[in-house]
Amino acid sequence: MPKIVVLPHDDLCPEGAVFEANSGETVLDVALKNGIGIEHACEKSCACTTCHVIVREGFDSLEESEELEDDMLDKAWGLEPESRLGCQAVVADEDLVVEIPRYTLNHASEDH
Ligand code: FES
Repeated sequence: MPKIVVLPHDDLCPEGAVFEANSGETVLDVALKNGIGIEHACEKSCACTTCHVIVREGFDSLEESEELEDDMLDKAWGLEPESRLGCQAVVADEDLVVEIPRYTLNHASEDH
């Protein structure tokens, strides 16, 4: 079973976390299931950037992002080459190390 290591994040998991994932689950779902409340403003429909994560290790094991995801990511705060939308990044069979960016931008409700 692949493992997901989540690097420490001040609000969501100050100590960091490690958990097991099933291939085929999204990074977002695995995190939520394990009590890490990554935002998902568009309900996982690839229409926001609040579930943005950076895959520090294992990035290449993930299926490539689609154009729509890339378009959304272009608007994400702190975009990096290894950025993915957590709700679109499907765990394959390799361990992952994931960083949750410090900030998220919610384009669906910009006046918050
Ligand atoms: S929850 Fe909106 S794109 Fe992932």
